[in-house]
Amino acid sequence: MINVLFVCLGNICRSPAAEGVMIHMLEQAGLNSLVKCDSAGTSAYHAGEPADSRMQLHAKKRGYNLPSISRQLTSEDFETFDYIITMDRSNYTNTLDFAPNEESKSKVIPMSHLCIEHSIIGVPDPYYGGDDGFEEVMDIVEDGCSALLEKIKEEKL
Ligand code: 4NP
Repeated sequence: MINVLFVCLGNICRSPAAEGVMIHMLEQAGLNSLVKCDSAGTSAYHAGEPADSRMQLHAKKRGYNLPSISRQLTSEDFETFDYIITMDRSNYTNTLDFAPNEESKSKVIPMSHLCIEHSIIGVPDPYYGGDDGFEEVMDIVEDGCSALLEKIKEEKL
């Protein structure tokens, strides 16, 4: 089993969207029994909450369900997960602070590094903005997840 974790700040917008998109892509590729996805936040601000209703709406428009219930990242996640994908620069540095040792830090990959069609430094936080921000998150995570699927196929399958 290969385990993938997506991480943002609140675990109610960006990482749940990435998780939902990746689950869908794995199902389409017939790989959902081999690769499992989850998401987490560097904060516990929204622990126990489902994905933000605006994020769910924009995902649903493109055919994705977001099953996430928000939880905070833990250092044990570095044992469980093979790939830990962070949404922006601050998520990246905060996620590294949870790493139990130096070696496990190499599991952490910024979403922006995976993207092929988007030349960006991070996935912008849509929480305080409008519809455009949520659409932009969907565009970016579709790009990054599709590249991640290819990377996993090359490296692990
Ligand atoms: P996310 O968005 O990190 O993509 O889930 C946010 C959600 C909530 C907050 C910040 C970002 N907040 O400050 O409550």
